[in-house]
Amino acid sequence: MKLLENRIRQDGRILGTEILKVDSFLNHQIDPELMAAIGKEFARLFADKKIDKIVTVESSGIAPAVFTGLSLHVPVVFARKNKSLTLPDDVWTADVYSFTKEVTNHIMIDHRFLAAGEHILLIDDFLANGQAIEGLLSITQQAEAEVVGVGIVIEKTFQKGRQLLDGLGVEVESLARITSFDEGKVSFLS
Ligand code: G4P
Ligand code: NA
Ligand code: NA
Repeated sequence: MKLLENRIRQDGRILGTEILKVDSFLNHQIDPELMAAIGKEFARLFADKKIDKIVTVESSGIAPAVFTGLSLHVPVVFARKNKSLTLPDDVWTADVYSFTKEVTNHIMIDHRFLAAGEHILLIDDFLANGQAIEGLLSITQQAEAEVVGVGIVIEKTFQKGRQLLDGLGVEVESLARITSFDEGKVSFLS
């Protein structure tokens, strides 16, 4: 998605060898017009799929997920991160280890908001090692819902997330695919 690639080139900041800061338009301050365009693009890419609901994780997945829900006219559910050890028993849960932050988050979705047989589109802001998406896949599996697609705003192809998802036989669409941050410059696939 050219609009997004241009914005990353213009406003993204590279941290070290593998982190891209996008807090001026996606992760802290949010550009609603860009998010609306992202929502429309995901709706276009998954137009051939029957989708009942969008599922993401708080917090940075929520903005692109909500705009995708707006374009597809379906509800959006975000998995909550729970820091306490005692979990309510009416939730589906998964443990998500973050390599970036070196913490494990317990994520959870209330049974009321995910039902057996529902067709789910997963959306997230970043695909790095794929742990967040794996956690969401585990939760949807527990609920016996069916994941029909995965939409990623920014994928880093040099980390292992894509490989992990390619093995699942689910359509994965990334709006920007970054191959490297060499020499302080963001390079995109194709
Ligand atoms: P993974 O989910 O693909 O395994 O990613 P990883 O463990 O590496 O990342 C953990 C957190 O860091 C996730 O956010 C993920 O979206 C974010 N992240 C990964 N790579 C980048 C990057 O290059 N830049 C930025 N800005 N974030 C990145 P989270 O812990 O779920 O937190 P939240 O920000 O959504 O609240
Ligand atoms: Na995220
Ligand atoms: Na994030």
